[in-house]
Amino acid sequence: MNSSVQEGQRNRGLYGLLSKPAIYEFIQRIVAGPKGRRFQKNFVDNHVAPRQGSRILDIGCGPGTILKTMPETLNYQYCGFDNNPKYIEAAQAEFGHRARFFCKRVSEANLDGVGTFDIVMAIGVLHHLGDDEANTLIQLAHRVLEPGGYLVTLDPVFVPGQNRIARFLISRDRGKFVRSAEGYQSLPHHVFAKVESTVYHNMLRLPYTHFIMKCFK
Ligand SMILES: C[S@@+](CC[C@H](N)C(=O)[O-])C[C@H]1O[C@@H](n2cnc3c(N)ncnc32)[C@H](O)[C@@H]1O
Repeated sequence: MNSSVQEGQRNRGLYGLLSKPAIYEFIQRIVAGPKGRRFQKNFVDNHVAPRQGSRILDIGCGPGTILKTMPETLNYQYCGFDNNPKYIEAAQAEFGHRARFFCKRVSEANLDGVGTFDIVMAIGVLHHLGDDEANTLIQLAHRVLEPGGYLVTLDPVFVPGQNRIARFLISRDRGKFVRSAEGYQSLPHHVFAKVESTVYHNMLRLPYTHFIMKCFK
């Protein structure tokens, strides 16, 4: 068996395990550690920045993990969707009493009837999507946002001079469309009025580089 076939099988095994909600959340917790949890809280407080009563759409919500970091006191309305039915089932079981979920692929999502939102998030999603589907996500987000609303994205990124281990780990990500900062910025550029972006280095237990975009309608 040649080495690329072996590697493909190894990856499918690991990625298959990650598609199970409990294993996904366990690995996320281990890799994040206390530093990663502080980063996630900072991400929610300062980038997602929900306010009292915010209407929030979470594209590629996974098992709804972000809800553990969102301040419940804000009385926000949350709706999430993802194309993995196991993640949606787990999200529904844990958070169904205070959030809405549905199973859909971005390219097939018809958000008619879902409502409009103040904040759209896509956390760790763009790097899973090729340009066509990523552009669909950007357009969907823009369409359902109220004027003054914003889309927040977070993904791994390739940037010059980043830690070599971070670059290696990111090159092995499940998502096959990790981009440079410019590659990510080119997606919302023609659709949103203003795009702010931030690079964060080494915010997890392991070396890693994150890229956050905040795109204002
Ligand atoms: C890295 S996970 C992030 C999950 C969640 N946002 C979080 O922060 O824990 C990426 C998520 O995007 C979802 N996803 C990938 N491609 C998708 C697509 N084409 N349509 C909808 N969801 C997708 C995956 O199922 C997975 O839940």
